Amino acid sequence: MDSKTPVVHIHALIMSVFCLFFSSSCRHVLEDPRIHVPFRARRSLLLSAPATTFDVNDFGARGDGSHDDVQAFQKAWEEACSATGAVLVVPEKNYLLGPITFSGPCQDDITFQINGIIRASDDRSAYDGDRRHWIMFDGVQNLVVQGGGTFDGNGLIWWQNSCKINKALPCKDAPTALTFYNCENLITRNLKIQNAQQIHVSFDKCSDVRAADLQVIAPGSSPNTDGIHVTGTQNIQISSSIIGTGDDCISIVDGSQNVQAMDITCGPGHGVSIGSLGSGNSEAHVSGVTVNRANFSGTTNGVRIKTWQGGSGSASNIKFQNIEMHDVSNPIIIDQNYCDQDEPCEQQRSAVEVRNVMYQNIKGTSASGVAIEFNCSQSVPCKGIVLQNIDMQKTGGGSATASCNNIDPEYIGTVSPHCS
Ligand SMILES: *[C@@H]1O[C@H](CO)[C@@H](O)[C@H](O)[C@H]1NC(C)=O
Ligand SMILES: *[C@@H]1O[C@H](CO)[C@@H](O)[C@H](O)[C@H]1NC(C)=O
Repeated sequence: MDSKTPVVHIHALIMSVFCLFFSSSCRHVLEDPRIHVPFRARRSLLLSAPATTFDVNDFGARGDGSHDDVQAFQKAWEEACSATGAVLVVPEKNYLLGPITFSGPCQDDITFQINGIIRASDDRSAYDGDRRHWIMFDGVQNLVVQGGGTFDGNGLIWWQNSCKINKALPCKDAPTALTFYNCENLITRNLKIQNAQQIHVSFDKCSDVRAADLQVIAPGSSPNTDGIHVTGTQNIQISSSIIGTGDDCISIVDGSQNVQAMDITCGPGHGVSIGSLGSGNSEAHVSGVTVNRANFSGTTNGVRIKTWQGGSGSASNIKFQNIEMHDVSNPIIIDQNYCDQDEPCEQQRSAVEVRNVMYQNIKGTSASGVAIEFNCSQSVPCKGIVLQNIDMQKTGGGSATASCNNIDPEYIGTVSPHCS
């Protein structure tokens, strides 16, 4: 599949044979980053027809950076999707694309191999039909998207027309650069996603997802450019990724369950956020989130849970562990009184419950000096909060403080600062 690495190819083939007979020896094959072929596709290499390559250039893509190659990509996808073990290849050129949806279900496992650059057109009228998506994978199972290439949302024109930048303009959505909607058994790895119009990558109603070795980059000043957004998605692992944008590095919202983020570098940006949850009196549920081994630098928040008054449901069974913070404004924060609107939010009794949250081995510096802020709801206080081995200082020296309302955390080991 990757013609430049025949040795790896042969290695993959040999290891696949091993895998078929000694499945316990497969783990490292599956995780060998040099092997850019999905396990299932490799098996089909041996047992059925060889994988078929579909090169977008053979479908008329020009890759000259100025002609919109949407039709060629669409045709290549349609053929690849109805083939067995297909690999759709985007060579090392510069492709311009308007909004496009790659729909499933496909005939078989499918690999989207991006070696080149895919850039969004800056013609905003192209999005008149659907302002929410640039590139979308819809209802595709057993999909691998990889290849070391780049998705570039070319977002400047959208940022300039954002109500957050130009207050005179009405607030409107801008497209998410890359959306995976209703996808099952998905791997996205070794990709760069930059300068999204709004959210960079969204996993929406997906299950069994592995996202690894992603670089997600936009200016810290770009509005609402969340890095990786997880919504309604179960069993997702995000690993070894570098995220620096103008909004949350990772945001995890309603309907998400069993979300693991590990080896994450975050900054600039707004940190890792669970929520916001419960806006407009809605019910929201997020459970089973682990953030393990993360490094935050210069972000406005570190690890945050934010819920609106008046909502219902819960954010529960959450672990933030082995985290370094460098000059982070609000390193550890729970805000059950979140209010992100022009008018003040009214007091309401109902709230999204925040339960069983563990903070373990977190150290570093806080720009604001308030390293821990727990602003929990008076009617639905935070429950089951544990702080273990926390060592936060103020940036530039001096001790940091904790501000705590409606919470009674348990302390294990050395915890500094403490709720008073
Ligand atoms: C975390 O990031 C800071 C600032 O970029 C860097 O100095 C530090 O070495 C990083 N820590 C780890 C464990 O990579
Ligand atoms: C907690 O939230 C309330 C309601 O939004 C706000 O008035 C208060 O200032 C917050 N407390 C802290 C310590 O930030």
